Amino acid sequence: MAGLFSKQAAVYAAARPVYPKDLFTKLAALTPHHCLAWDVGTGNGQAAIGVAEHYDSVVATDVSEEQLLRATAHPKVRYLHTPDATPREDLVAMLGGEGSVDLITVAEAAHWFDLPAFYDIARRVLRRPGGVIAVWGYNYRIIPVEDMMARFFNTTLPYRDTRAWYCMNGYKDLPFPFNDIGLGREGEPASLDIDHEMSFEGLIGMLRSGSAVTTAKQQGVDLLGEREVKELEEEWGGVSLVRKVTFKAFLLVGTPRAED
Ligand SMILES: C[S@@+](CC[C@H](N)C(=O)[O-])C[C@H]1O[C@@H](n2cnc3c(N)ncnc32)[C@H](O)[C@@H]1O
Repeated sequence: MAGLFSKQAAVYAAARPVYPKDLFTKLAALTPHHCLAWDVGTGNGQAAIGVAEHYDSVVATDVSEEQLLRATAHPKVRYLHTPDATPREDLVAMLGGEGSVDLITVAEAAHWFDLPAFYDIARRVLRRPGGVIAVWGYNYRIIPVEDMMARFFNTTLPYRDTRAWYCMNGYKDLPFPFNDIGLGREGEPASLDIDHEMSFEGLIGMLRSGSAVTTAKQQGVDLLGEREVKELEEEWGGVSLVRKVTFKAFLLVGTPRAED
């Protein structure tokens, strides 16, 4: 798994949208304590940095060392490499033990996880009562360029990992066995708009950093060859145009169930 994001870690760092500040304010308002947050699948730390505004410290973990090498340094964020084979007990210990985490965030990554194993750890490390888990994602629904995005998306279909479908379906079928606290629940994610000023270069960078494009490349197919980029450029409106776009993202937030 680490390989899918390690190969394009440099592109990834520059190309992805920044999450809105008020999302982190809203999440922080849900937890009574603000000692420790855990950002899982942190990549370059996009969400970890936002969370750090509200918590004393943030542990930010990822299976990809290459992604972490490009993560944004922050005095409150401790980046830790957690390879797939990291024993659950070690992870719990790294996070300070059971009941030590106030907020868990997973941005654009939960669909890649072994969810039963991850949720088991999440339940153990979340503070009780009071701990909150928030999972969000985005896909090719980007307004107002959704038609060109849909056309590009269709070209990626043969190279899609089945796990990516959770994301393509807007997390509507992502298992999320936690108590509903009014910000999206299992089967009914809340909507989250992420406004972003995007250059054409940024668009191509974002598309290049997608897992299906990497998989296609590994199979000798360039989904973003010269011709494809030219077509996208025409649809975008020119290579130098910067557009205001909105990612129609989706969010699930909950607390551990008493019985778990
Ligand atoms: C699409 S990136 C998202 C990165 C960042 N959270 C963001 O919002 O841009 C997905 C990240 O999840 C990481 N990842 C995938 N499976 C993981 C796992 N089981 N544990 C931790 N990180 C994982 C990948 O290495 C990658 O950095």
